[in-house]
Amino acid sequence: MSAPPTHLIDWRDWDAGVVRDVLDLALRVKRDPRAFENRMHRRTLVMLFQKTSTRTRVSFEAGMTELGGHAINLDWRASNFTLADVRSETRYLSRNAAVIMARLKDHEDLLDMADGATVPVINGCCNRYHPCQAMADMLTIAEQRGGDPSGARLTYIGAYNNVVNSLVSIAAPLGVHLTLVCPLRDEATIDTASRARLLDAGLLTETTDARAGVADADYVYTDTWLDMEYFNDPAFAEEKERRVAQMLPYQLNETLLAGTDAKVMHDMPIHIGYEIAEELIESPRSVIFDQAENRMHAQKAILLHLTGS
Ligand code: CP
Repeated sequence: MSAPPTHLIDWRDWDAGVVRDVLDLALRVKRDPRAFENRMHRRTLVMLFQKTSTRTRVSFEAGMTELGGHAINLDWRASNFTLADVRSETRYLSRNAAVIMARLKDHEDLLDMADGATVPVINGCCNRYHPCQAMADMLTIAEQRGGDPSGARLTYIGAYNNVVNSLVSIAAPLGVHLTLVCPLRDEATIDTASRARLLDAGLLTETTDARAGVADADYVYTDTWLDMEYFNDPAFAEEKERRVAQMLPYQLNETLLAGTDAKVMHDMPIHIGYEIAEELIESPRSVIFDQAENRMHAQKAILLHLTGS
């Protein structure tokens, strides 16, 4: 295997061969968890959350338990990260933990953490990227295709957000063709370099025609139309209403997928009746819960790789 990088901020920073190595490791970890059960024996993961979470919190902690290690949950608001410099607080964490996972609001704070850390930092989702989700997504596709996602056609329909940036950056090294149907986009948040790399590889199509976008898809993926911390915030009610009006024609439902064999993906949490119709969630098309389960297997591989365990 190639030398591991120090941190996982996003897959865009990793060599293609290493991304494929981690996916292969995730497949092996899922297939034979007992073979890895003591690899993090007596080692500690600190999980720092500035935002809410269900899957990231549970899957990292369960993953560390299965690897023989321990995870500490640290709420940003109850910690001295609220008072102090991010770099020095992170430098301290590195003295007591083997690895750090952080879900922060601002990408810049995550970069400061990586700068201050002397152990690996894993991005547990910032405003710009969600790399752990993207690896779990690729694991979900790979395990249905004999272990290799290359050649799969994945359509993402919804807002161009942090999940999309990481899908774009992981699709190139894994040879997955991505079609983006993203009428809702803020050009300032798009990772243009990763997008250009996927375009150059002939692996990116963009359209605002939802029917055309899903026509030859193996997988169709959607996500919330509004950042999760704003979804139930009264201050964003007007913006939410505007987005819902714009995006409802792009809702993922059986009518849109009629005549296709596409499987349905969603990174959760689900906003039923908004980006996805309830009829799809438990339908035979759905791989949503495999995808969610795969967060743990993918992250175990990331932890093992980054810590050299
Ligand atoms: N998909 C995801 O990151 O889920 P949580 O926000 O619940 O962690």
